Amino acid sequence: MSNQKPLLEMKNIIKDFGGLRALDNVDLSINPGEVLGLVGENAAGKSTLIKILTGVYSKTGGDIIWEGQKVEINNRADSLNLGIDAIYQNLGLVETLNVPENLFLGKELDKKVLGISVLDNKKMEQESRRFIKEIIGLDIKNLNDPVINLSGGQRQSVAIGRAIYWDAKMVIMDEPTASLGVEEVFKTFEIIRNLKKNNTAVIFICHNLEHIFEVVDKIMVLRAGKRVGFSDVNEADKQEIVSLMVGMDAKTAS
Ligand SMILES: Nc1ncnc2c1ncn2[C@@H]1O[C@H](COP(=O)(O)OP(=O)(O)OP(=O)(O)O)[C@@H](O)[C@H]1O
Ligand SMILES: [Mg+2]
Repeated sequence: MSNQKPLLEMKNIIKDFGGLRALDNVDLSINPGEVLGLVGENAAGKSTLIKILTGVYSKTGGDIIWEGQKVEINNRADSLNLGIDAIYQNLGLVETLNVPENLFLGKELDKKVLGISVLDNKKMEQESRRFIKEIIGLDIKNLNDPVINLSGGQRQSVAIGRAIYWDAKMVIMDEPTASLGVEEVFKTFEIIRNLKKNNTAVIFICHNLEHIFEVVDKIMVLRAGKRVGFSDVNEADKQEIVSLMVGMDAKTAS
């Protein structure tokens, strides 16, 4: 859909760490409900680019346009307020808290007891149980255990569930499949497809091109801080992507 307005545009993004230019005039554009695969060798700048979106790093230069408006993202709260959630395999959740506490972190439900606001733990637990089961399709027995006791895949499902629950407009996943088993990887693909159906945009960073080609709509290649490729997945060729990643001419690479 060419007339669709991008959800997010990053223009000429520069990030310097002292004398090192980690990002050199990088552009990125993503539409609502689109899945963008971000690939590149180690140290290409992938995590740095998305950390600028989550407010972990401030950019040295360039513009961020969100739903047509220029915005500044200075911290995690700015990012969450725009509707950007980030999911890493283990991060994003507080491991010592249980599932309901993580789901409602920073947005706890209250009830009034004798005119005083107190946490409505029972409601949060019921709501979490219903949501995790109905929407995520996960039957977590130990909902009230700290999430450190859950498997990597379960933890990730809870993190993604939180993004869906709070209606994130964009979810960033940095290497979500890195240490998952085959079944859990399929579960991750399913979750990405569900986010897409929900019209949520996804930026998916992954070293495994098989995984990338399985779920993304577009692929963007970074090499040494520069954007060296951007294409529709249907028009992309794995060999060509690898050549762009490592810096070989696709025609001479065999
Ligand atoms: N906080 C920091 N301080 C100094 N340099 C940094 C910092 N964070 C990242 N860098 C540098 O920026 C460059 C890009 O790193 P980045 O983590 O974005 O790479 P990446 O593409 O995510 O790599 P990987 O695939 O290994 O995760 C690297 O050279 C890295 O050393
Ligand atoms: Mg990284």
